[in-house]
Amino acid sequence: MLQKLLRRVERHYDVDGMTDVIRVDPERPDPAAIARAAECLRGGGLVAFPTETVYGLGVYALDRTAVRRLFEAKGRPANDPLIVHVGSPDLMDALVLHVPDAARALAARFWPGPLTLVLPRSPLVPDEVTAGLDTVAVRVPAHPVARALLVAAGIPVAAPSANLFSRLSPTRASHVLDDLEGRIDLIVDGGPTTVGVESTVLDLSRGTPTLLRPGAITAEMLREVLPRVEVGTVRQDDRPAMLSPGLLEKHYAPRAPLTLYEGETPAMLERLMRDAHEAMNAGARVGLIVADEDAVDVRGDARIARLGSTHDLTTVASRLYSVLREMDAAGVDVILVRGFPGSGLGTAVRDRLHRAAATRIVL
Ligand code: TXA
Ligand code: MG
Repeated sequence: MLQKLLRRVERHYDVDGMTDVIRVDPERPDPAAIARAAECLRGGGLVAFPTETVYGLGVYALDRTAVRRLFEAKGRPANDPLIVHVGSPDLMDALVLHVPDAARALAARFWPGPLTLVLPRSPLVPDEVTAGLDTVAVRVPAHPVARALLVAAGIPVAAPSANLFSRLSPTRASHVLDDLEGRIDLIVDGGPTTVGVESTVLDLSRGTPTLLRPGAITAEMLREVLPRVEVGTVRQDDRPAMLSPGLLEKHYAPRAPLTLYEGETPAMLERLMRDAHEAMNAGARVGLIVADEDAVDVRGDARIARLGSTHDLTTVASRLYSVLREMDAAGVDVILVRGFPGSGLGTAVRDRLHRAAATRIVL
């Protein structure tokens, strides 16, 4: 199977240093546009495309040269492994040593979708992709554009989020352009992504299935299929083995320092507003991120963004990164964010806000 995938790459991507953008209908992408992007991938090119979570920056996963080019374009350290995207679950078999029953059951239930499985890797997957780990992360995305592209290309595509290293994941083609214009070959613009936070990462490679990164497929949903799912610690500091080196906090942070306010709503908002006014009085440009229903009475010139209702975490997740990027673009000095309920998709929102805040959490 993999022999078929191991094609000799005749490099024929555009090397003019320009990033082309092709717009496609997110539901029914034009086959000619998809064919062009697929050909670019097959020729060793770097192609950004929408998935249901965030935009990915794809390259042919079995082409070491292309993978190295990808790391260079992102400025990503080589010790941070990539997720390999495939168009159908049966391609997973070619990338891993063996497929455990648990992986088959989860794939049947959640693929295509925002779930990434970490499995023992086949030796044919280059070290450049796995950062030398003995495992490989695999996912079948659900976005019609991603699916069409992967099916048309017919190859496994390694794709991290299409942002510069240390910047926020992109949820729109314009975010990709802001970070990577001139550094990649092509962007397939399929409009804003729907989920808005990166896929759930589940490690099935050792003993108990362990959640490494929360996403839209929640631990509760996984436990309906696999009752013994454990939630891994997200902090790397206490983890010498670096099970998932890409999960360092700083990857998910805006440029301006972000403080997260948690706790019961009226008191939490009062505290947030008090700190906001203090910062404004000290001359700082302040960005406030609150919920739709929050009554905030700002005396002064702050930038306010509403993420959505605390009862609608789907909207909150889908807007999170673009609102944080807008704050950075507006040049605010500090960002103050209200906490959101940590259930369902809220677990992923909370996780990303915690990473962005690092130690700046007010309880
Ligand atoms: O939703 C997503 O997952 C998006 C879209 C494009 O699919 N991709 C994405 O990729 O978020 P990236 O590279 O930004 O994050 C991949 C995460 C990293 O935290 C990385 O450390 C982890 O997956 N990962 C990759 N391979 C791994 C492995 N073999 N073992 C443990 N963690 C792994
Ligand atoms: Mg990323």
